[in-house]
Amino acid sequence: MNNKRSGPGWWRVAVQAIGAVLCGVSLGSPAWAQQGAGPAAASATTASTTAMAAPRPAATTIGEKACIGCHGQENRHFTETLHAKAFRANPRNDRERQVCEACHGPGSLHAKNTKDKSLIIGFTKGWNTPLEQQNESCLSCHQGGNRLHWPGSTHAGNQVGCADCHNPMQKVGNSPLLARATINETCASCHQQQRAEFNKRSHMPLPEGKMSCVDCHNPHGTTTKPLLKADSVNFVCYACHAEKRGPMLWEHAPVRENCVNCHSPHGSNHDKLLVASRPQLCQQCHSPSVGHPGQFYRNDQTAAAGQLLGGTTSQRVVGRSCQNCHTQIHGSNHPAGARFQR
Ligand code: HEC
Ligand code: HEC
Ligand code: HEC
Ligand code: HEC
Ligand code: HEC
Ligand code: HEC
Ligand code: HEC
Ligand code: HEC
Ligand code: HEC
Ligand code: HEC
Repeated sequence: MNNKRSGPGWWRVAVQAIGAVLCGVSLGSPAWAQQGAGPAAASATTASTTAMAAPRPAATTIGEKACIGCHGQENRHFTETLHAKAFRANPRNDRERQVCEACHGPGSLHAKNTKDKSLIIGFTKGWNTPLEQQNESCLSCHQGGNRLHWPGSTHAGNQVGCADCHNPMQKVGNSPLLARATINETCASCHQQQRAEFNKRSHMPLPEGKMSCVDCHNPHGTTTKPLLKADSVNFVCYACHAEKRGPMLWEHAPVRENCVNCHSPHGSNHDKLLVASRPQLCQQCHSPSVGHPGQFYRNDQTAAAGQLLGGTTSQRVVGRSCQNCHTQIHGSNHPAGARFQR
């Protein structure tokens, strides 16, 4: 986790940076690339300056050749990336033509004094550029789209930055400029618990590489907690398990309410990702009632009891247990399926 990156006063920068965005600093022309171009630009520049050090003359761009003169090694890796290709071969505007400085900001002062960390936007932990300033650099070209809900998202609010998941300085694997070779590894670098759950006996084929965390989550922010890609848990599941969507003639209430009433999305040591073994799963909600008790008749009626203790083996506990009779647990379309037996 990276919460050490933000120095004191970062929130002031954040507030003003957001202000600058709201004031219409548009794609391709970030505050710091238009020195003195308008009140919004000026205030954003001043804010970052005061937050980091004493006032000083604004830096100007010096072009990638100057940067490469000292950062040849970094440039060799960078050259293989999509940004390098896009900015060099096919720049859409002056900002992209700046290449290194499009992200790191104008570097004239840094080139003269490489020791003062406030003179260039750095994205690594030790460099201490306020996180909001780093993110704003990327967002000035990548706002909207999948990042529409980035402001206020769980990641943004927990000091996770673009550069925690993305490394634009080298091509690692085939994924979109991620910090690790795959999406799942990138997420697992912080979410080890969820990764471990996917190693349980029953899991969807994510460790096998057929799925990834972003099939269900949008790490850039969504309107549905926790960062879910659809309007509810169920709609996330319906995207691939459409046959569970219904509507059914006879609905089983907990299914329509929320799939995670019975399933653990990341994995489980019980069969079929179930949150509990059967029949306990059913008995969490179905207690003994008049008519047909929802539990075994006697406590010697366990699956093993029949052989070991001389009891009777109950259909309620063997194998699929309750589902030996109530087979259509997700709901039934049979006219006589009110009890989910057909
Ligand atoms: C005169 C040589 C020189 C020039 C020119 C130069 N740099 Fe640097 N740069 C350095 C040195 C030295 C460091 C400090 C490295 C360290 O302490 O790890 C540095 C650090 C950096 C860092 C911070 C690295 C980190 O740890 O996060 C960035 C980003 C950077 N330079 C980008 C640029 C860009 C962009 C340009 C062109 C506008 C540029 N540099 C021009 C020498 C130079
Ligand atoms: C698309 C934005 C972007 C562009 C363009 C870009 N950088 Fe970076 N740079 C980053 C990010 C993000 C990091 C942090 C990478 C990490 O987490 O290790 C970084 C890291 C660095 C570092 C620190 C050492 C390292 O590799 O981690 C240096 C030095 C640097 N960049 C120089 C350059 C130079 C020189 C260029 C142009 C040839 C350039 N950058 C182009 C975003 C960019
Ligand atoms: C928590 C990890 C994480 C963070 C933080 C993150 N990203 Fe991403 N980003 C991803 C993953 C994973 C993908 C690949 C998504 C896919 O293939 O559907 C991606 C894809 C992208 C893409 C290409 C596809 C698209 O969505 O347009 C862009 C551009 C992008 N991210 C920009 C950003 C910017 C800018 C930030 C910071 C505001 C950021 N990301 C923060 C994980 C992250
Ligand atoms: C000057 C504009 C600009 C800036 C600044 C910028 N990008 Fe990009 N980015 C682009 C362009 C252009 C592409 C090429 C694809 C496209 O047209 O969207 C791209 C592509 C990407 C992709 C998709 C890669 C893929 O394989 O699909 C990611 C991820 C991404 N950028 C992340 C970042 C991050 C993180 C930062 C900040 C460190 C950043 N970008 C800064 C313009 C920019
Ligand atoms: C740099 C560390 C880091 C990385 C990498 C990271 N996350 Fe997170 N994530 C966090 C933090 C911090 C939180 C908030 C605290 C928590 O819930 O643990 C969080 C929370 C979440 C949440 C819960 C959201 C909520 O509203 O409760 C989801 C879902 C999530 N991350 C998904 C992802 C996915 C998917 C990826 C990979 C694309 C990813 N994360 C990569 C740090 C990270
Ligand atoms: C099949 C869809 C799916 C996939 C794939 C998936 N998740 Fe989730 N995730 C969910 C759902 C649904 C929830 C909400 C669970 C709840 O409400 O109890 C969730 C919750 C979370 C949370 C919040 C805390 C928690 O565990 O409930 C985090 C963090 C998270 N996921 C991270 C990840 C990461 C990291 C990956 C990839 C390794 C991943 N998820 C893959 C569906 C998925
Ligand atoms: C991106 C597609 C996708 C999404 C979204 C998705 N699943 Fe799956 N699910 C799969 C695949 C693929 C399998 C494996 C099917 C197979 O092996 O035949 C699977 C299998 C399952 C299984 C059976 C596991 C077993 O051991 O046989 C359950 C239960 C399940 N998913 C529940 C859910 C739930 C609940 C959600 C919503 C939180 C969900 N799925 C969302 C793709 C998805
Ligand atoms: C009341 C508990 C319960 C709820 C709620 C529930 N399931 Fe299930 N689900 C089960 C049980 C029990 C099994 C095992 C069925 C078997 O072994 O025949 C299962 C099996 C599955 C399977 C694998 C076998 C198959 O039928 O395809 C998938 C996929 C699945 N459920 C998806 C979902 C989805 C999607 C939702 C939400 C719409 C959901 N489940 C809600 C109890 C539930
Ligand atoms: C999360 C709670 C919950 C779980 C777990 C659950 N159910 Fe249900 N079940 C309900 C509710 C609520 C109803 C609707 C009761 C009503 O309409 O009076 C219901 C209805 C039923 C009915 C139809 C009864 C009727 O009166 O219409 C059957 C049969 C049934 N469940 C069997 C099962 C079986 C078998 C399992 C285990 C695989 C199971 N249920 C798991 C909550 C649950
Ligand atoms: C041997 C077959 C069988 C097994 C095993 C079985 N049931 Fe039933 N269940 C029935 C029959 C038959 C009915 C009555 C159907 C009707 O009235 O239409 C019923 C009715 C129900 C009802 C509705 C009760 C009511 O008052 O209307 C629930 C709830 C229920 N079962 C839950 C369970 C649970 C939970 C289990 C596992 C512990 C289970 N059943 C195991 C055959 C079975």
